[in-house]
Amino acid sequence: MTSGSKVTARRIEFAYPPDMGPVWTPAKPEFSCAANAVSLMMPVMEPYFVRSIAAALPDLDEPLRSETEAYLAQEAQHHRQHRRFNRVLVDRYRWLAPLEHLMRRVYRSVERRASPQFNIAFAAGSETIAYSAARWAARHRTELFAGADEVASTLFLWHLAEEVEHKSAAHDVYWSRYGGRRGARLRYSAATALTVALVVLFVIAGTTIMAAGERRLHRPMAWLRLVRWSIGFAFELLPNLVWSMLPSHHPSDFTDPLWYEVWLRELDGDTGTLPLWHLIDMERSLDDGPEPGSAPELGQGRSLEELR
Ligand SMILES: [Fe+2]
Ligand SMILES: [Fe+2]
Repeated sequence: MTSGSKVTARRIEFAYPPDMGPVWTPAKPEFSCAANAVSLMMPVMEPYFVRSIAAALPDLDEPLRSETEAYLAQEAQHHRQHRRFNRVLVDRYRWLAPLEHLMRRVYRSVERRASPQFNIAFAAGSETIAYSAARWAARHRTELFAGADEVASTLFLWHLAEEVEHKSAAHDVYWSRYGGRRGARLRYSAATALTVALVVLFVIAGTTIMAAGERRLHRPMAWLRLVRWSIGFAFELLPNLVWSMLPSHHPSDFTDPLWYEVWLRELDGDTGTLPLWHLIDMERSLDDGPEPGSAPELGQGRSLEELR
């Protein structure tokens, strides 16, 4: 079963200001640390998904094949943009380089030892985590991104927006290739459990290194926030994981946050720019177009292009 959704490959280049620091949410530095820890994993995890699923492309029929190619193009863009962003992090925190090295070894080892089926299940399970993160972040975006650096916020929210858009892609590849095999659901569940465990482990490690570097670890407020966000995210993730393992489930059954879709519609294909995340005029965007002379044009504020 496929979702019937349309995944669109977009080319977007982020230019990070030379003076951009790793703490891009100054009001809540711990959130930068946690989000940066996720960013650090992207150039390790996403190429693994791309390799695993690209290997299955020749066996896919249309329209799943074209949809999967667009999904792979999105993931390739994500890890490319995060790799550039991560340079700021690794330059600032000396223990991140060894952590990055360890992550690379662990994921390489999983990829080499596992079967092609398990690797695709691993990617599909990881997409459920990404989708849950997107739903959680959309619900809390005003709190999390208030006063944040515009370019870094836009990077993370653009990535999450596309995670929502391609939420079904890896799932559809897995079930179209292996749905008829005995034990397919068991392998899917095992791969999902493994990816959740690794993400939790490495996000905690990365967050701790960066929070220590920012001297936040001895502050009770920092811990309170991190624990509150972790519990809130767990309440988002765990039901989604359980649903994703049920036989009748398809990711299209999930209700998406509308906000991301509206935002992606505003991409300027000529310049490869999105309006900065807080400049979305929801009411205008939900219509086909503005009433003449009514709402201001999106992008009249500063766009990413202007921040270069
Ligand atoms: Fe991604
Ligand atoms: Fe993804």
